Amino acid sequence: MSPHTFVMKVSPKAPQKKLILTAAEVLRRGGLVAFPTETVYGLGADALNADAVKQIFVAKGRPLDNPMIVHIASVTDLKTLTTHLPKEAEQLIDKFWPGPLTLILHKSPDVPDDVTGGLDTVAVRMPQNKIALALIKALGHPVAAPSANLSGRPSGTTAGHVLQDFAGKIDMIIDGGPVTVGVESTVLDLSRKPPAILRPGAVTQEDLAPFLGRVVMGRTESKKRSPGTRYRHYSPRARVTLVEPNDEKAIARLIDQYAEGHKKVAVVARHFSSGRSTRAIVRMMPQELEEYARQIFAVLRELDELAVDEIIIEKTEEEGIGVAIMDRLKRAAAR
Ligand code: TXA
Ligand code: MG
Repeated sequence: MSPHTFVMKVSPKAPQKKLILTAAEVLRRGGLVAFPTETVYGLGADALNADAVKQIFVAKGRPLDNPMIVHIASVTDLKTLTTHLPKEAEQLIDKFWPGPLTLILHKSPDVPDDVTGGLDTVAVRMPQNKIALALIKALGHPVAAPSANLSGRPSGTTAGHVLQDFAGKIDMIIDGGPVTVGVESTVLDLSRKPPAILRPGAVTQEDLAPFLGRVVMGRTESKKRSPGTRYRHYSPRARVTLVEPNDEKAIARLIDQYAEGHKKVAVVARHFSSGRSTRAIVRMMPQELEEYARQIFAVLRELDELAVDEIIIEKTEEEGIGVAIMDRLKRAAAR
């Protein structure tokens, strides 16, 4: 593919038209452009160009049966993607789009099978990011985009992370600054009854309940219905061990144990007096969960760069966006 990856700075508040048109032209020619969304950076291709979409799998090293999310800039774009919009979908769209909610809907024949991994459903969302919306509008087609990270790595939340994974492998990266949410969108399956949250995100089960009545969530349902959640994911190269909140003693004990085995150890915690140990790299996380979400993937990437062997992470509470954070932490810890 492209030997040179062009990094283009674009204003997130007032995206420069000319620059957006340049990026849209790359997509129109079948190229790959990474761009910011409010959740994480996406690796985009023209969703209606099967050859371009195939290149995403190549660049990411992504299994071919793992479908990707199609990003739209206006509700009318749904017409090309789905044959039928359920009533609940209309209400959810009114309330949560643009925003971090992905809906799984029955797909129309116009969506290439490469996008959906051969499924009869398609994942769609409208991102809340001016650059993303302007890019999709300028292309005039929906944009297929998984998170912009090599398969199995933590999602990229800055243009720098994307460059780490894709330098020389994609045509362009739009640098629109750091993302505002930090964890990927909530994935809600509306194609079957009852509706199911296949991946928790910033839009929570409590946010959705008033519109849906019963909505199920859980690992079994996710594994059955969502290919992506079957794969090991969000993983730093180091081994991750989770400890209960406020259990400083457990952290100290693990540090000693790992350090004695000559391992390079890191701690990611909100409650830990680093004075307790000089044998670990300590990253203190914010108390506020929204801020925590914004930082967690960057911290995991940084610890990888420091070639840490063991990461000890203090669990967060599973409330609000904490459900999504804990989902990612549990997966990072899964072996
Ligand atoms: O916030 C986000 O959603 C980001 C930004 C770039 O929009 N995108 C993202 O895409 O996280 P990706 O490909 O990394 O994750 C999409 C998830 C995967 O777990 C995939 O298996 C699932 O959505 N998915 C996609 N299409 C599906 C479908 N038709 N049925 C069930 N699950 C689907
Ligand atoms: Mg991903």
